[in-house]
Amino acid sequence: MHDKTILLVDDEAALLEVNREALMGLGCAVKTAGNGAQALDVLDQGGVDLVVTDLRMPRLGGQEMLEEMRARGCDAEVIFLTGYGSVESAVRCIQLGAADYLLKPFGIRDLQDKVAKVLREREMRHAARGASPRKPATPDPQGLDLVLDFTQALRRQRDVRSVVKEFLVQLREAFHPDAMSLFFADGARADLGRDVHWGPLLRDNRRVRDWFSSVATRLMDRRSPRLFESLPVHGEGQGAVSAMLAPVLDGQRLLGMALVLRDHAAGPYSLPALQLLSVFAAHAASALDNVAVQCRLQDMNLEIITSHVRSVEAKDVYTKGHSERVGAYAAMLGREVGLGPADLELLSFAGVLHDVGKIGVPDRILNKPGPLSAAEFEVMKQHPVLGRDILADLRSLQGVLPIVYHHHEWYNGQGYPDGLAGDAIPFLARIVSVVDGYEAMTSSRAYQAARSPQEAAAILRQGAGQQWDGRLVDVWCRIVATRDLARIGAQASLSVTLPLA
Ligand SMILES: [Fe+2]
Repeated sequence: MHDKTILLVDDEAALLEVNREALMGLGCAVKTAGNGAQALDVLDQGGVDLVVTDLRMPRLGGQEMLEEMRARGCDAEVIFLTGYGSVESAVRCIQLGAADYLLKPFGIRDLQDKVAKVLREREMRHAARGASPRKPATPDPQGLDLVLDFTQALRRQRDVRSVVKEFLVQLREAFHPDAMSLFFADGARADLGRDVHWGPLLRDNRRVRDWFSSVATRLMDRRSPRLFESLPVHGEGQGAVSAMLAPVLDGQRLLGMALVLRDHAAGPYSLPALQLLSVFAAHAASALDNVAVQCRLQDMNLEIITSHVRSVEAKDVYTKGHSERVGAYAAMLGREVGLGPADLELLSFAGVLHDVGKIGVPDRILNKPGPLSAAEFEVMKQHPVLGRDILADLRSLQGVLPIVYHHHEWYNGQGYPDGLAGDAIPFLARIVSVVDGYEAMTSSRAYQAARSPQEAAAILRQGAGQQWDGRLVDVWCRIVATRDLARIGAQASLSVTLPLA
């Protein structure tokens, strides 16, 4: 970096000084200017490789300065510092031909990294093109819309898998590739899982995939993008491909590299396309980091809630294993009535978690031998409400809430908490209600000895149409008559993993 000259442009003298010291730390020569007009005077003297400039300044702002630079044939790189940090303004910088942007507030290290990256890319580009001056990137009016659509679509995703999927969908629409990969960095695999490949050339061809994987690994070390305008792919029935790799980088945290490639005959990728891919990858990184953090928090919450379930069962020795068995039975009944995997997963979770609200019921009520008084029953009736409130903050368990909340509704409307009747009770809650009743009857309780499966089935039939949905009781009684529920119940285990939609 010692032969490089940077021009810093900012109307705030204090910031100018801090940034100047930071960049001198890279070994660069640093010039300064207080606004765009002064900067143009400095640039006219030549020798500047990179301009790091504020976007909003008196006299001449960053955008107008860049336009004037290009009009005067100045090919220095530009990094915009943008303080009113919307994605839109940052993307506009790229559209205007800036090499990169930095959202305020940023750390000294962020600035140094970004500057080093842009200077390195400039050097590589000049080396590759015989040091011919760079043709300024043409503003791409379509790119802005693409990135805005992209960031909005990413914001809607709630888990890693959905973000990755959306990222690939958007890359496909923006770059029309024949194949794409996401190579994840070692430190990010715990959150993001295995590498993702799309398109036969990468998915089915190990040799090509391994080659790009090794290139991606090298580029990860340098955190830099790379453009292959034309790359021969021997023996694959293809002459050459054009490929781009961009770091999936969220601030200092490198998550991996994104690769898109297509047949060279379909048109090679260009530097503006690589810049656009880098912007896409940066926004995907931020979305991925965000959902990964959310999922980690939810995992922690789920651990806490699972420990609540255990402590409910510890409070009431008679209910030990009840929740696990209700989870297993609910999934069995759900499968029997033809529900899909997503509903079955919900039933497993809801079964395990349905009584978590009992953590708020005093031991003397929970363990009382004999019937509860009216006042005690009122306290007991709060447990579905409390259960829903405990789980309410878990984004990934939203589907479980109505099941937990309504699992004590009666088919005839005599249940609680809302007194819903018939089909107004959520179907999955009706399933849990049937198997919850069965499990309670076939287990020893403080107030009763365990009944046999046949006795429990007979009681369910008596309550069909009153407490329980008669159709579900029929199906469950068939299961009771034909399956070894004692063995299945004993094998049920309290293992909860996050449901990913
Ligand atoms: Fe309950």
